[in-house]
Amino acid sequence: MPDQLKKNADIDVSIAQNFHTLAGRDLLRLLDLTPAEFQLVVDTAAKQKADWAQGIHEAPCAGQSVAIILEKPSLRTRNSFEVGTYRLGAHPVVMDDDHSAFSRGETVQDTTLVLERFVDAIVIRTFEQTKVEEIAEWASIPVVNALTDDFHPCQGLADALTIREHKGKLEGLTLAYVGDGNNMANTYMELGALAGMHVKLGCPETHMPDPDVLAECLEAAPATGATIEVFNTAQEAVAGADVVLTDTWTSMGDEAEHDQRLKEFEGFQVDSALMALAADDAIFMHCLPAHRGEEVTDEVIDGAQSVIYDEAENRLHAQKALLSLVMGAA
Ligand code: CP
Ligand code: NVA
Repeated sequence: MPDQLKKNADIDVSIAQNFHTLAGRDLLRLLDLTPAEFQLVVDTAAKQKADWAQGIHEAPCAGQSVAIILEKPSLRTRNSFEVGTYRLGAHPVVMDDDHSAFSRGETVQDTTLVLERFVDAIVIRTFEQTKVEEIAEWASIPVVNALTDDFHPCQGLADALTIREHKGKLEGLTLAYVGDGNNMANTYMELGALAGMHVKLGCPETHMPDPDVLAECLEAAPATGATIEVFNTAQEAVAGADVVLTDTWTSMGDEAEHDQRLKEFEGFQVDSALMALAADDAIFMHCLPAHRGEEVTDEVIDGAQSVIYDEAENRLHAQKALLSLVMGAA
């Protein structure tokens, strides 16, 4: 077992769990968590990951069920939530076709109030953030955002775990995100604000991050010592960074703009020359799916600094920890 995993097996989350109960809570965006709660989820994920690797396979959510509703395509989210739910001992009810959950035009009220008679938590990937907010308002069970047009908090938790595994800490590190001011940009600003990181975004003027989210993150940042800066060049963002991240230039729902976007993002590709501006021991991350040759070159994504597959695996551990906490089982 790698040294980091052995160390994580010794993490004691029991005290934090007594002080910060997340039972019954929703996660619609990372800023729903306090810095201490965010830390608790990441610690719990590290601990559960290490325990699992050591053969400790508990089923703390036995007898419970989780609805997993996917209104956009998915590889990582679907598999990691389904397998994570199974590993907790609970039953995953996956609805990812055109004939389930919200597809027949039932109101959010009726759908949610019926679903919660069957399941113990709702995980949903959809378009509008307002839809997950409305589901959460109706639901008396935890609701987890599995990606909207605005946020991807579960990816943020997995990325925090990954950074900590590779760098030993989060606080004080410089996180550079290059590309579209999209749901991932919003999520990384929130992650940085909660973890006390120095976040530097490099986005073209045509695709800047949401100013309201930026303002909320700037307000949250002083509590942890975080800083957040936005630049209009990739180079300014990446200079000296410990972690370099990017995401697709064409998110789900933006496909019609693909050709236009290729022009608008010229100069924002993460290539070896850009990575050379980061710290020598910087890591490269991408939530995936990647569009190789667009936002990142093969050389970088397949290179020695890339940790993309650890990052993908950590979706499983981070979400399993989150579900066990909000379902009151950790
Ligand atoms: N990163 C991520 O959410 O991947 P999927 O779209 O495959 O779920
Ligand atoms: N920004 C991307 C993230 C995919 C995980 C999208 O929304 O499609």
